[in-house]
Amino acid sequence: MLKSFQFNSSGRLSFQAGGIQTLGNELKTLGGTKALIVTDQGIKMSGILEKAKKSLLDEKMPFVVFDEVEPNPSTAVVEKGYEVLKKEGCDCLVGLGGGSPIDAAKAIGVQGTNPPPLLQYEGPNKVKNPIYPLVAVPTTAGTGSEVTGASVITDKARKYKCSIRSPYLIPKLAILDPELLTTLPPGVLSTTGMDALTHAYEAFISPVTNPVSQALAYDAMRLIGQNLRRFCANPENIEAAGFMLLASTMAGIAFFNGRVGVVHAMAHPLGGVFNTPHGLANAILLPHCMDFTRLAVPELFGRIAEALGRDVTGLTVNEASKKPAEAVRELMEDLQIPKGLKDVGVKRESFEIMAKDAVNSGIHLTTPRKVTEKDMIELYEKAF
Ligand SMILES: [Fe+2]
Repeated sequence: MLKSFQFNSSGRLSFQAGGIQTLGNELKTLGGTKALIVTDQGIKMSGILEKAKKSLLDEKMPFVVFDEVEPNPSTAVVEKGYEVLKKEGCDCLVGLGGGSPIDAAKAIGVQGTNPPPLLQYEGPNKVKNPIYPLVAVPTTAGTGSEVTGASVITDKARKYKCSIRSPYLIPKLAILDPELLTTLPPGVLSTTGMDALTHAYEAFISPVTNPVSQALAYDAMRLIGQNLRRFCANPENIEAAGFMLLASTMAGIAFFNGRVGVVHAMAHPLGGVFNTPHGLANAILLPHCMDFTRLAVPELFGRIAEALGRDVTGLTVNEASKKPAEAVRELMEDLQIPKGLKDVGVKRESFEIMAKDAVNSGIHLTTPRKVTEKDMIELYEKAF
C-alpha cells in the first residue's frame, strides 16, 4: 500500500537553448526593480556573466554584480554579498553558476528578509520569511540547486557544511540553457554529473522517498547513464548537455523531496575539512556506499542497474544488486575520475572527526541500511 507523503514541486522551469537572453524580462515579470547577480570568477571569465548582463541591459533592468563566491561558499562570503544587497537596495536575486553561486544567492536571500545570524536557520523549515524572488541559472549539470529549497554553506570556524532547507528557498524560476554548459573543463563536467547521479540514486532508495521522487530519480539515472560519457567527450554536444541538465534538475527535485543519504553525509565533511569539490567527494564514495547499502534494498538496486543500462535478465536479486556499483566504477574509469581519497589530498587522520560530523548532520538517517560512525570510518578507509 502507498504511504502518505508531501511533495514540493519546483518553481517554473524554462528549458531553452540561449534562454539566458530572457533573464532581464523574467526578472521584471517577477516584480523585481533592481537585481543582485550572485556569481563567481569562473563565470565572469567564461563570458557567461556578460550574456546575463546584456539581457538585463536590454530590458533596462538595474542590477549589481557580486562575483566573489568561492567553491563551498562560506558564511563570510554570504555576509559580504548581503552587505551589497542591502547597500544597493536590490529586491530580486540571480544565482548564476554552479551550485556554489546558487546556494550563496539563496543564503543572501535569507539574510535579506530574516534577522541575523544566518546559521540559526540551519536544518529543515527554520526560515521564517520568504526570500526575494530568485532566478537560478545553472551553468553545470549537477547540483540541482536551481530547483531545491536547500542552501549548503560552510561554517569555516567549525569546518562544517551547514544545510539550510526551506520551501522559501526554492527559486521562483530556473532558466535551463544547455548552451551555458559548453565551456566547462572536463573535470568539472564529469564530477558534477556524478553529483547528479548520486542525488538520483540516494533519492531513489531513501526510506522517506515517494513515488514521484522515485519516478524522477529513475529517469535521471537513465539519462545520466546514456549521456554523461557523450557530454564529457564533447561538451559542445548540445543534445547531451541538454539531457544532462534535465537529468540534474529532475534529480534535484527528487532529492529535495526524497532526501539524500550516507554518500552526502560523508561527502560534506570532505568539503568542510579538505575543501574537496562536492561532486568529486560523492563520486569517490559512491561505489563503496553502494556495496554497503545494497543488502538492505536489493530489489531497488536491481532497478538501478536497469536504469544504468545493465542487463539483469536471468540474474538472481542478489547478483543484480551488485551491478550498480560495477556500472559506476566503469563510468568513473571511462571519465578518468580519481578512485581514491588519497589521490585528492585527503588525510587518514581526519576520518574519525569526519565520521563524527557526518553522524551529527543526521543526513545518513535517510539511508535504507542502518549506518554507524564505525561503519563510516570503514567506508572512508575503503574509499582511501
Ligand atoms: Fe550533492
